[in-house]
Amino acid sequence: MARQTPIRAIRGMHDLLPDESGRWQQVEDRARAVLEGYGYQEMRTPLVEVSELFKRSIGEVTDIVEKEMYSFEDRGGDQLSLRPEGTASCVRAAIEHGLLDQPRRIWYRGPMFRRERPQRGRYRQFHQIGVEVFGLSGPDIDLEVILLTRRLWQALGLDGLELELNSLGDSDERARYRSQLLDYLRAQEAQLDDDSRRRLETNPLRVLDSKNPDLTEIIAGAPSLLDALGEESRAHFEALCAGLERAGIAYRINPRLVRGLDYYNRTVFEWVTQSLGAQGTVCAGGRYDGLVEQLGGRATPAVGFALGLERLIELSAAEPLARVDAYLIAVGEQAPAAALQIAERVRDALPGIRLLCHCGGGSFKSQFKRADRSGARVALVLGDDELSAQRIGIKPLRSGEEQRDVALSELAERLPPLL
Ligand code: HAM
Repeated sequence: MARQTPIRAIRGMHDLLPDESGRWQQVEDRARAVLEGYGYQEMRTPLVEVSELFKRSIGEVTDIVEKEMYSFEDRGGDQLSLRPEGTASCVRAAIEHGLLDQPRRIWYRGPMFRRERPQRGRYRQFHQIGVEVFGLSGPDIDLEVILLTRRLWQALGLDGLELELNSLGDSDERARYRSQLLDYLRAQEAQLDDDSRRRLETNPLRVLDSKNPDLTEIIAGAPSLLDALGEESRAHFEALCAGLERAGIAYRINPRLVRGLDYYNRTVFEWVTQSLGAQGTVCAGGRYDGLVEQLGGRATPAVGFALGLERLIELSAAEPLARVDAYLIAVGEQAPAAALQIAERVRDALPGIRLLCHCGGGSFKSQFKRADRSGARVALVLGDDELSAQRIGIKPLRSGEEQRDVALSELAERLPPLL
């Protein structure tokens, strides 16, 4: 048969290759440990939901719902979408399974899908780790989720992330602000771009989110949302700011931070970095006290965030990770067959050890080369002579130390100090 044209992955959707998965696992493991350290429990929801869920939560007039969702009609005629984010699904599931009878701290991870224009840090399938807390309305829980993110950065060895903060107030305050903002923007309508002009009618706050450099000045001159806050919203925001100061977390109040999803009220925040180019937001979230009710549940306050794993991993890229601890080399007539059994015994004796047993033959030299490339700290060396003497060589690969010979029966004891 003639050779066929290879099929490639979809633009903006990436394979996670074997050499990269270790880094992902490391970041995910550390994140999970931090989340568990705050008493959060994992939840997993389907990748596909009815489209209506995202329209009702993220908002009809948002980039995500208007332009970016992967939506389709399934064979039964239902309108479905690949999830573009995790909050809506979490709320849906929490209502559906009656989880809202007490405060809940939930986390999730997994792929999300948005048909954006791909560029560095922006993909069509990307991965988030997210947190949602239900049933707590005070600024203390807003502070807790931010403390948790700081601990995450520490656990991942990241510095240089900056916290931006704003309050969107409650819905009355936002309505009042909306009309102030509309007056201001209408007066400058001629200078707005098409997108922003259209948003005047539908969602004027989103104009503040515009990335068009021609609008920078207009946006900078707009009235500030913070000035429109009522007493309670202001007290909430001030309590959070005071808590951040007590915790020694530096922040910058950014009155233009409005977020691209409609469900937020009061606290919104983003952790941003200068090191990733245009897509510098690594983590974003805030309070959404109205969403549970909007999706058919009993009014329940809520707050959460999600971080973009691709961006986080790009930031945390450091020294290459070793794939294995030890590499078993076997050359000769009998040694290769015996090696697999010896490897099994080592794994029995040393649970958790990452031991790669060479398969496929080859000279000592070529096997040593592979051992070196695997990142292993030691090579275990088995020839026919060693085997018949029931001994095995241990060669440290990273320290220049000499190879030593040990009895097979002592291997499990002699190996760990060298790893
Ligand atoms: P979001 O701001 O849309 O919020 O996304 C959160 C994070 O996901 C972003 O800060 C970014 O790191 C990452 N991200 C978003 N889109 C992409 C993309 N196309 N490619 C790569 N990374 C991306 C939410 O999704 C809310 N559900 C967060 C939340 C949870 N709010 C309350 N609870």
